[in-house]
Amino acid sequence: MAFDPAFLDELRARTPLGAVIGRKTKLVRSGRQLKACCPFHGEKTPSFYVYDDHFHCFGCGAHGDAISFVMQAEGRSFMEAVEGLASEAGLEVPKQAPADRGRAERARTLTDVLDAAQRSYVRRLHSGEGRDGLSYLRGRGLTDATIADHGLGWSGDGRGSLMTELREQNFPPELIAEAGLMRVDEEGRPKGELFFNRVTFPIRDKRGGLVSFGGRTLGDGQPKYLNGPETPLFIKRRTLFGLERASSNLRTIRPPGSTALASRELVVVEGYMDVIALHQAGFGGAVAPLGTALTPEQLEALWRVAPAPVLCFDGDSAGRRAAIRAAETALPLLDPERTLRFVRLPEGEDPDSLVRKQGAPAMTAELAGAAGLADVLFELLSEGIRNPGPEQRASLHAKLTEAAATIGHKGLASEYRRTLQQRFFETFAKQRQTGRAGGRAQDGRSAFKPAPVMSGARPVPAADRVRLERMRLLLAILLRHPDLLADVEQALCGLDLPDDLASMRAAILEAAHASPTLDSAGLTAHLQSAGLSAQIDTISAPSPLPMPAGASHDAMPAEAEKTWWHFFGFLSVEGLREQRAAAEQAFIQCPDEESQKRLILRKMTLDFVERGEIADEEG
Ligand code: UTP
Ligand code: MN
Repeated sequence: MAFDPAFLDELRARTPLGAVIGRKTKLVRSGRQLKACCPFHGEKTPSFYVYDDHFHCFGCGAHGDAISFVMQAEGRSFMEAVEGLASEAGLEVPKQAPADRGRAERARTLTDVLDAAQRSYVRRLHSGEGRDGLSYLRGRGLTDATIADHGLGWSGDGRGSLMTELREQNFPPELIAEAGLMRVDEEGRPKGELFFNRVTFPIRDKRGGLVSFGGRTLGDGQPKYLNGPETPLFIKRRTLFGLERASSNLRTIRPPGSTALASRELVVVEGYMDVIALHQAGFGGAVAPLGTALTPEQLEALWRVAPAPVLCFDGDSAGRRAAIRAAETALPLLDPERTLRFVRLPEGEDPDSLVRKQGAPAMTAELAGAAGLADVLFELLSEGIRNPGPEQRASLHAKLTEAAATIGHKGLASEYRRTLQQRFFETFAKQRQTGRAGGRAQDGRSAFKPAPVMSGARPVPAADRVRLERMRLLLAILLRHPDLLADVEQALCGLDLPDDLASMRAAILEAAHASPTLDSAGLTAHLQSAGLSAQIDTISAPSPLPMPAGASHDAMPAEAEKTWWHFFGFLSVEGLREQRAAAEQAFIQCPDEESQKRLILRKMTLDFVERGEIADEEG
């Protein structure tokens, strides 16, 4: 019994493989994968790995997807396994009407047609008729190994010899047309071969099955690239060129002695040739959509391979538009484990031309400079704005808030809103005072680069300055209220501080541990005697930013405590969440007034921070 491949795809996509396998064997997390002792052969140490869409046992070689797992583990037939999983996934098993059955069976034979065409194309490339095609590919820097590896071929001249060949293998013309290899007239009647005088690129689905072809002209003819039409096998919105190869490259740990990858990033580029040139240069994680904007389905497929794929766009205005569209498509789908990074290439280059002209290190450098989605969103939405008036400020602010609001994951949405608002405030508040753009690069290209790291001598970007200031004040408050230390120590230690502040933190904690009863004067004296007077002065200097009352010298302890957590929350909302969870546990175990007060303060602060509210005194 055969099912429609689209239904089976849907079923696999909706079935959490880990959950199905978890019923038979205990799974433990190992990096991004789950592993277990293999349920199919006796073993004591786990060599059975579960990936997003398949499992593999390195011990006995058992391998398959959710359906074959159920078949093997429960001794069910294919039909039974599909029906069982479909009912769990809430999917209706399509009725096996005779027509449907025909369609499903045809899909299988469509693959046969494509495979036959592929063999023919490859053979033609290496025969006399493919001479120009082969030298074109070599002329573009592809090695013979790459050409063979990627299955590149030659279409022939389109005058019917492929049809003849396929019909000799008993494929009917309708089937050849349905496989997408022929042009059809208005009535859908086959009317000649689709590809002629083109080099061919086999397009595979994520499991490696051939689904269609792309073809490139050798000269300047139009269209430059021709892709096969949508067919029962070739569903463009789900397909990424190179995905099967990329996902297998990225999860394979190369055996010693074989060539290592230049990069283990999953990289999305624009074209066929970019993918192939990158693979040849050692970037085994390159994929491309097929001449269209990235779809939600393609993003889902990417995230099944890596949590933060890098989208690599050309440095022109089309590349900029593509980046905006991709960001818009991605926002509703984001969660803390699924994001995107962006690279904007130098004007006039694509990945293929970049690695050809400048070699792999140039591409490696671009990937290393990939910017995060929040940064890119801000850059894209505020691009071109220099000295905004009130209307422009209001409109940009609304756009940023709107963009954050489209994120489906609530916690992440508020995190984005806060980050974007902060960048807005920092960039344009500073600009108003000084009359120049603050911290923002002026040319579109470097605007995609991450902010430079803090350093003593260089000017520090506004966002980092505020962070730095908050870190400094956290220590200043503790110098004045050492009683707080016991309570905040764990949170404080989790912060990533620059070196000078980190060593001050260490000194304060050391002193407090040595004499837990020190008051502010005592602590200061202790640190002075340790030779840290200058550092104390730096830390206690008045702040250039408008400050909440709790950060002032004569703040009451409760005020100071509140302010401390507030600053901490803005520096690390993750850290604050952990602290809140810990306080909750502490309260459950020992529900006294003290622990209740702690929990309430952490919770209130977190609410504040998650709402993205700048402390009243600052906003
Ligand atoms: P580009 O025009 O950027 O081409 O199209 P490229 O990849 O740099 O190609 P070369 O280097 O000149 O060979 C990017 C992608 O857009 C799709 C193809 O998938 C192509 O790889 N495309 C482009 C089409 O589908 N049709 C076209 O006519 C052009
Ligand atoms: Mn190109």
